[in-house]
Amino acid sequence: MFLDRVKPLDAILATAERKSLHRTLGAFQLMLFGIGCIIGTGIFVLTAAGAQKAGPGLMLAFVIAGTVCIVAALCYAEIASMIPVAGSAYTYSYATVGEFIAWTVGWALVLEYAIAASAVSVGWSGYFAGTILGDTFGISLPVSLTAGPLALGGAPGGFINLPAMVIALLVTWLLMIGTSESAKVNAVLVLIKVTALTAFIALTLTSSEFDVARFNPFLPAGVFGGWGTGVGAVGAAATIFFAYVGFDAVSTAAEETKNPQRNVPIGLVGSLLFCTVFYILVAAGAIGTIGGQPIMGPGGIPFPAGSEELARQCALPQFSDALVCSNEALAHVLREIGFGAIGNVLGYAAILALPSVILVLLFAQTRIFFVMSRDGLLPEGLSKVHPKWKTPYVVTAITGVIVAIGAAFFPVGQLADIANAGTLYAFAMVAVAVMVLRRTDPTRTRSFRVPALMIIGPVTVLGCVFLFLNLPLEAMLVLPVWTLIGCVIYFGYSRGSSHLGRGIIEVPEVEVATTLEPDIPGIADRNRD
Ligand code: ALA
Repeated sequence: MFLDRVKPLDAILATAERKSLHRTLGAFQLMLFGIGCIIGTGIFVLTAAGAQKAGPGLMLAFVIAGTVCIVAALCYAEIASMIPVAGSAYTYSYATVGEFIAWTVGWALVLEYAIAASAVSVGWSGYFAGTILGDTFGISLPVSLTAGPLALGGAPGGFINLPAMVIALLVTWLLMIGTSESAKVNAVLVLIKVTALTAFIALTLTSSEFDVARFNPFLPAGVFGGWGTGVGAVGAAATIFFAYVGFDAVSTAAEETKNPQRNVPIGLVGSLLFCTVFYILVAAGAIGTIGGQPIMGPGGIPFPAGSEELARQCALPQFSDALVCSNEALAHVLREIGFGAIGNVLGYAAILALPSVILVLLFAQTRIFFVMSRDGLLPEGLSKVHPKWKTPYVVTAITGVIVAIGAAFFPVGQLADIANAGTLYAFAMVAVAVMVLRRTDPTRTRSFRVPALMIIGPVTVLGCVFLFLNLPLEAMLVLPVWTLIGCVIYFGYSRGSSHLGRGIIEVPEVEVATTLEPDIPGIADRNRD
């Protein structure tokens, strides 16, 4: 009942065959694409929340989260080079563990992509309100218009996060009318982000303010803060994991990669390694110059990031300049050490580059919904393609409104934690799918094979479970509740209307496939070179 309805791999691959995209991408382009999706709110904003959870141990948190992502990336590399079609973890699960699990994965990917898009929108809003309105025009928007009121667990904030809502809707509109992002635009944005981070690292690590004493104590909240508390180095790792989310988008381009055996793993692992090194250096620079010790609550446990108590502490004069209290962490550090103008330039870099991360996440979400609807698991009306724009405009509009609501009303840290919960589930299922396929379909061509899969596979699953259990309790609980809602929809609607269940194993029309697939943001012009 639960593990039946496995979609035949041949039918899935026939879809890819019919699209027959040119293989034009090399390892470097894949890495650029990956870095474009990865660097965003995680490093520009959540550095503050990470420091509140772990203090200088944030650097260790980046290593832990990066390691889990790298082993997951190897699994993605194998399965993407074997099943190079749209739908990512959802499609892989459909071909291995069946429709029901695939549904839960697709449903969890809503958390990864849509909620992550909300989180990045809120991160963008922090820089917009601080750098553009505040530092450039001297306009100070009231908190009621720059923060949402809802925090699971009770911290009252403002009323609505207007800039976050507006940017989410704007990006949705761009996607609806078919705007994509060329590889060149992506390369420029990556250059801007990497230059901003490099300048940050160079200025902080060489600053006269840099003092190694600030790294002591290195682990003020310990390595394990306790299950469900979300503090300590692993608690911070569970949150800062968000800074790596998005690398899996590289797998969507496997089908168009030259020599995928070599280039897909290099693209996935290379972009992650590159970001990990940058992230550790950024954390070192921030903490070494202005300090990053958490604000401790009763019992020597850090106040929860994003909580009402922490907000109250941050309002006190002694904490007004603390890293852990900033909404635009990296620009704040530069301002504090006397590089105000460069801090603003970094703020502009974030404002310019973060919308492209929102675009990629929203794009990925709409394509997952699109594939699910094409499979009959969601109403077919959702996959309607606009005659002029050639985009799935219905599903894009619905997704955009959900993302905008999330962005308008929730704080960035909690959105990121919730996104992480869904992502960790999807990553674990991809590792399971790779292991299952090695058993059920051992002879099929794999242009990349995970070395020592019997170790890497279980390590990926355990790493994901471990990080999940170190999320704050509220974020952890969202996944089962969300999955339960998904089950009600699956058994109430999707199971009955499933094409596979009704015996329809279709290969989508080539026109639909080609109009929708080749415009992956960040590499949109790849087949026209
Ligand atoms: N990794 C992406 C970010 O940090 C989602 O914004």
